[in-house]
Amino acid sequence: MGIYGVMGYPIGHSMSPIMHNREFEALGLSNHYAAFNVQPSQLKTAIEGVRALHIKGLNVTIPHKVAVMEYLDEIDDEAQLIGAVNTIKNEDGRLIGSNTDGQGYLRSLLPLLKQRELNRKKILVIGAGGASRAIVTSLARHGVEQLDITNRTVSKADKLVEHVKRFVPSTSAELSDAEKNLSNYDIIVNTTSVGMSPHINEVPINIDNVKEGAIVSDLIYNPLTTKFMQKARDKGAITDNGVGMFVYQGALSFEKWTGIEPSIERMTETVLKKLGG
Ligand code: ATR
Repeated sequence: MGIYGVMGYPIGHSMSPIMHNREFEALGLSNHYAAFNVQPSQLKTAIEGVRALHIKGLNVTIPHKVAVMEYLDEIDDEAQLIGAVNTIKNEDGRLIGSNTDGQGYLRSLLPLLKQRELNRKKILVIGAGGASRAIVTSLARHGVEQLDITNRTVSKADKLVEHVKRFVPSTSAELSDAEKNLSNYDIIVNTTSVGMSPHINEVPINIDNVKEGAIVSDLIYNPLTTKFMQKARDKGAITDNGVGMFVYQGALSFEKWTGIEPSIERMTETVLKKLGG
């Protein structure tokens, strides 16, 4: 019997408990996954609690992903480069931090790529916050042909470009310039919250110039189809919502903790049911 959970603030609407608990049950593992509402001022104490209570694994979410790092014993390369942790594994008292967000996105993308290799893709990432940093780091480490970043506040995109440039060619752009050059890209990812319920009529950029057959991902899953995705589809793009990244980041955490590969299909079904889709 192992106790697992997610730590965030607020944590009320997290889909992780139901997703992991159903998987534990289906695989016959007598573990339990809980939601822990941890105020920022209590983070250090909470991590001491993890050690004292022998909690075996945690997901970490907003606002603790960066702050938690100083309380861990080890942080893997990917999480260090991202500069944030979303997964903690308790290995006989040693707390090891990793980050499955970016890899989760990559995994969710692979079924859409078929034989067309990611290494040869030109990618545009919209947004320069925490989610963007995880994704661009993983894409850059994997290797792609071009990785451009656009953001309302261009100085933040500039900083991310500096970060990924040692791995892949990368430039930053104003939102308006990115819109004009959209036909250059094979993959376009929205990492901002623009278009999320209740603001379902907003789009992060005008997608009209997207290339036919391009992949357009939106990390939003509420609604399941954003206006941005709908407009991209109307122009002949292949679209993908945030359910895939959410499920795969969870699946990768699950695998790190248990050594068992969970069912992506069942996890997706659980999440879609919870989302009412
Ligand atoms: P997350 O951790 O989910 O990525 P974040 O770190 O708060 O969230 O980042 C939010 C991203 O969405 C940022 O790129 C932000 O742009 P700014 O850097 O200019 O703030 C972008 N964003 C949020 N609301 C936006 C809006 N209304 N229009 C354009 N971009 C927006």
